[in-house]
Amino acid sequence: MTISLVVAASENNAIGKNGQLLWHLPNDLKFFKNTTWGFPVIMGRKTFESVNKPLPGRTNIVITSNPDWQSTGVITVRNLEESMQKTIDTNSKQAFIIGGGEIYKQSMDIADKIYITRVHANLEGDTFFPVIDKSKWQLIADEFFEIDEKHAYSYSFQIWKKI
Ligand SMILES: NC(=O)c1ccc[n+]([C@@H]2O[C@H](COP(=O)([O-])OP(=O)(O)OC[C@H]3O[C@@H](n4cnc5c(N)ncnc54)[C@H](OP(=O)(O)O)[C@@H]3O)[C@@H](O)[C@H]2O)c1
Repeated sequence: MTISLVVAASENNAIGKNGQLLWHLPNDLKFFKNTTWGFPVIMGRKTFESVNKPLPGRTNIVITSNPDWQSTGVITVRNLEESMQKTIDTNSKQAFIIGGGEIYKQSMDIADKIYITRVHANLEGDTFFPVIDKSKWQLIADEFFEIDEKHAYSYSFQIWKKI
């Protein structure tokens, strides 16, 4: 099973502030949906609560330390290891770790790929993606998109593969 992280991060690696994203980029939302559709998605409890409903067409797995936490339409697990076991149980060829900051930090070592939408701006945030260590990760795809009427920032869809 391939484990991929999917994230949108600014040049300075900011991914969120006050429990929300820092931008509205419709093409990134489409990319996220197309990439993850049909596969298990794993997220921290805070990321789930920022969306507050299960993502359709995907098995939603939420990590929390709270044994009483539950929500309709999601599988609750107590840590990353348990989330991996649940994804193996789905017999899926791929699983996507979709944030947020705490979960990305814990999963860099187990991930095979990173799908990162690099937003070309330095932005203030309170949650960050880890720095991608170029001695461990190789850039295998990089597609640039300019600012347009629907996108306030230019951005690049990048794929990194673990070396
Ligand atoms: N730009 C992007 O691509 C992107 C993607 C996703 C999220 N975000 C942003 O990121 C922010 C949320 O990220 P975050 O770092 O604050 O929170 P998070 O990673 O989404 O969730 C953190 C929570 O996950 C649970 N957790 C984490 N590690 C655990 C472990 N080892 N064992 C058990 N439970 C564990 C804990 O839940 P309990 O407290 O319930 O125990 C913890 O409070 C928001 O601003 C969101 O908009 C951005």
